[in-house]
Amino acid sequence: MSLNKELTKQAYEEVEKHTERVQKDPYFPGFHLAPPTGLLNDPNGWIQWKGVYHLFFQWMPFKTGHGAKFWGHFSSENLTDWTLEPIALTPGDWYDKNGCYSGSAIIHEDKLKLFYTGNVKDENGNRESYQCLAESKDGFSFSKKGVQVELPDEYTPHFRDPKVWKHNGRWYMVIGAQTKEEKGAVALFESTDLKEWRNRGTISHANQAPLSAFGYMWECPDIFSLSGKDVLLFSPQGLSPDGIQFNNTYQSGYVLGELDYPKASFNHGSFEEIDRGFEFYAPQTTEDEKGRRILFGWMGVPDQQEFDQPTIQNGWVHQMTLPRELRLVNGRLHQLPLPELEELRAENVFNGPIDSQYEGSIARTSEIQLKGTVKKLCLFDNMTLTYDPKQSLLTLERPNVADGKPERRSCILSSALNSLHLYIDHSSLEIFVNDGEAVFTSRMFADPANRSLVIESGGKVDMSIWKLKDNTVSYMNHPE
Ligand code: FRU
Repeated sequence: MSLNKELTKQAYEEVEKHTERVQKDPYFPGFHLAPPTGLLNDPNGWIQWKGVYHLFFQWMPFKTGHGAKFWGHFSSENLTDWTLEPIALTPGDWYDKNGCYSGSAIIHEDKLKLFYTGNVKDENGNRESYQCLAESKDGFSFSKKGVQVELPDEYTPHFRDPKVWKHNGRWYMVIGAQTKEEKGAVALFESTDLKEWRNRGTISHANQAPLSAFGYMWECPDIFSLSGKDVLLFSPQGLSPDGIQFNNTYQSGYVLGELDYPKASFNHGSFEEIDRGFEFYAPQTTEDEKGRRILFGWMGVPDQQEFDQPTIQNGWVHQMTLPRELRLVNGRLHQLPLPELEELRAENVFNGPIDSQYEGSIARTSEIQLKGTVKKLCLFDNMTLTYDPKQSLLTLERPNVADGKPERRSCILSSALNSLHLYIDHSSLEIFVNDGEAVFTSRMFADPANRSLVIESGGKVDMSIWKLKDNTVSYMNHPE
């Protein structure tokens, strides 16, 4: 049996062994994507093809830790009901033996093509990086086509996460990189035929205004245009906290500007964090068949107390965010929950104005919409959101997963707080603020039996609450 086949078989055996225990965990999500067992990280290969949405993910089936990643695969026709599909990529070839690392998908000549990084470590632990291709005729079974792009001289082997797109009839690929001076960078490649790739150089890096001293590695770059601007999303590593900014171990954010394709230069402004919560990293976007720019993120951060999370004892760790539509509003990215998510609603349980002190009880899969000025919201005696109108400062506080001490993330809103939209899924909380101007994405390890919701308002507040479905992902569809 080939190594790919052997590893694939072992991964299915792990799933078989652990799925039940994983899914019985009271923290396991009801409508978010999570691993059937083991560790999930970055969203990969995110695309819609022939009506079907495909989301692949970095997956370690053998333990709740990082290592030689597989590409797991979910599909959906409506963005609310998802199915776990057979494994897409297995790290069993010489060029990806230490992991089929992150990458992206495109459609070309009626095939779904996955570009990903083959991660290799030699016997002394030295890293090698290969940008590889795999193809599929049906979107579900993939054959590897090997190495497409070798590591150029100007970067260290921290060179990964190809994102490919088409512009004016040519193909482009950005890769997260580290220069020989150990600065984070984005490398650009160009191709006319998807076979020969020309190195166009570095289009942005951490030693160039307006991003000086901006980290030692930039992961998961993604470039797209939105309302006439070019957006570069990336996840820099090595920034220090600066007041209410950059408080997570690693960041995720964007710059706006213009990518000059003929000159291969990107003139852009300053970096904005895309999410203000505790767990968010490595987002990836696609344009769907309706022309919407939709983002998925990983609801986790590398090296940020990942292994203190209590789900580890039940054999799984991490989940995806909900899919969100991106819009450019007044020069900033806004993120909006998709209208399709209304299909998650099982029952409307509250509708109307609330008193200045509201106390209630809600399901662990719930959606809450609040219009008006909320002063304080406390969920499950665990997550507390506080608004300070003098500074337009919104702060989320929770007990640290390891020592229980309070920890906070904050952001300053561009106008007064007027709406909150919350999605609660057992152990996660996504808060969309002022129609997507800011989002706080976080895991929430509250006592699973706690149902409490307490709200203090600072004026008239209207509230709607829905109980949401609790089983929209099917994990049963694997071949062996
Ligand atoms: C980001 C990342 C990527 C890499 C992948 C490996 O979380 O470190 O740069 O491709 O995870 O799982």
